[in-house]
Amino acid sequence: MRRLARTAAIAAWVAWTAKAACGQPLMDDGKKLFNQIALPACAVCHTLKHAGAEGAIGPVLDELRPEAARVEKAIRYGLGQMPAYTALTDAQIKLLAEYVAAATRP
Ligand code: HEC
Repeated sequence: MRRLARTAAIAAWVAWTAKAACGQPLMDDGKKLFNQIALPACAVCHTLKHAGAEGAIGPVLDELRPEAARVEKAIRYGLGQMPAYTALTDAQIKLLAEYVAAATRP
């Protein structure tokens, strides 16, 4: 019985964190990273409707709709005119990549 309660508690916790991971905090923090924290700001070069960004140097992310792994790679290593973001932490890069993927998912 006790074991059942514990399992239920763990299941509830997993459901809660899963929801938190793709919910409002992700979208708010991601937007901030996109517009302000990553330097130079992604918004300078990219259009992303969710972030209110209208940059015109790189591809329009709303049209490209990249998977998180593709965004992560671009942020980490750079691509063409896009610089590598070596000052961001691993967690920031992952969050930003998830954000761009989530914000452009239809
Ligand atoms: C100085 C302008 C500039 C900035 C700042 C910039 N990018 Fe880019 N980005 C580009 C250009 C140009 C490309 C296209 C590169 C190419 O295909 O040669 C690109 C490509 C991409 C791609 C597509 C990668 C692929 O595999 O095709 C993604 C995703 C992306 N950028 C996300 C971001 C994010 C997120 C940020 C902020 C951390 C950012 N960019 C900052 C210019 C920029």
